[in-house]
Amino acid sequence: MRIAVVGKGGAGKSVVSANLARVLARRGHRVLALDSDTLPGLSISLGAKVPDEPPLNDAAEQNEKGRWRLKPGIGPVRAVQRFATDAPDGVRLLQIGKTDKRGLVANRASHNAFYQVVHRLESAASLRDWVILGDLPAGGRQAAFDWAPYADHFLLVVEPTWQSMLTARRIIKIAGGMREDATFSLVVNKAAEDGDAERVREFLGVPLIAVVPVDDRVRSAERAGVALLDHAPQSAAIRAIELLADALDVGSIER
Ligand SMILES: Nc1ncnc2c1ncn2[C@@H]1O[C@H](COP(=O)(O)OP(=O)(O)OP(=O)(O)O)[C@@H](O)[C@H]1O
Ligand SMILES: [Mg+2]
Repeated sequence: MRIAVVGKGGAGKSVVSANLARVLARRGHRVLALDSDTLPGLSISLGAKVPDEPPLNDAAEQNEKGRWRLKPGIGPVRAVQRFATDAPDGVRLLQIGKTDKRGLVANRASHNAFYQVVHRLESAASLRDWVILGDLPAGGRQAAFDWAPYADHFLLVVEPTWQSMLTARRIIKIAGGMREDATFSLVVNKAAEDGDAERVREFLGVPLIAVVPVDDRVRSAERAGVALLDHAPQSAAIRAIELLADALDVGSIER
C-alpha cells in the first residue's frame, strides 16, 4: 500500500492520514508515515512527539558544488531507521523540517534529504511490505514537483464544497499528468447532508472509497491537544476511517 493523501487546505488530509496510519498499524501493518508539509499537522493528528530540530537535518550535506546529497551510507532504509521518529501504535514518522523564524534556510538539509529519500523508497527491498502513507501539503504543488514518487495511489480528501471540489479536480489533472499509472480514490470528509458524497463523486468521476461525517469530536480532540483516536475512539469519524482501512486493506494481516 503506497498512498499519498492530497486535497485542498483544511480538507482533512492530516486527520485522515494520521488515523488511517494508526488503524493500519494496529492491524499489524508496519507503517511509515511521511510528512512533507512545512507547517505542523500530521504529528499532532497522530499524537506524536517530535523533536524541535528535524532529525533529517543530519541526513544530507552539500558537495563542493553546493549540491545537496544524502550523507555517505545513508540510503532509504537507514534514513527510516535513524531519522524517522516513533508515533503511537508503532507508526514510524519521517518528517520534513517545519518553517520557523529562521526561515527556510535552517531546514534545507531536511527538505533535500526528504526529497531524496522518498525518491529511493522504491528501491528498498526491506520496506517492500510496509504501508507507506504520505500526507502532502495543501494543493497540487508537491504533486507537480514529484514529492510523492512512492505513491501508486492518491487518496483525494475532499469536502463537499466547490472550493474543495475544484481543487481536487486540479490535483487529479496535475498528479495524473505527472504519473500516468497512478490511481485515485475519493474520501469525502465533513459530509453533513444526504447527497454530499454522491455530489462530489459525480463531479470528480473518481471512485468513492469512504465518507467521513462532520464530527465535533475531531475539533474537541484538537482543542484538548489529543489525537482523535485516543480522545474519541468510538467516534463516527474514526469508524469511517476504519471502514476506509478495510477498503484499502482487504483483509487485515496476522501479527
Ligand atoms: N470529519 C471532520 N469533522 C469535523 N471537523 C473536521 C473533520 N475532519 C477535519 N476536521 C477539521 O478540519 C480542520 C482541518 O483538518 P486537517 O488539519 O486534517 O486538514 P488538512 O487537509 O491536513 O489541512 P492543511 O491543508 O492545513 O494541512 C481541523 O481543524 C479539523 O479539526
Ligand atoms: Mg495537514
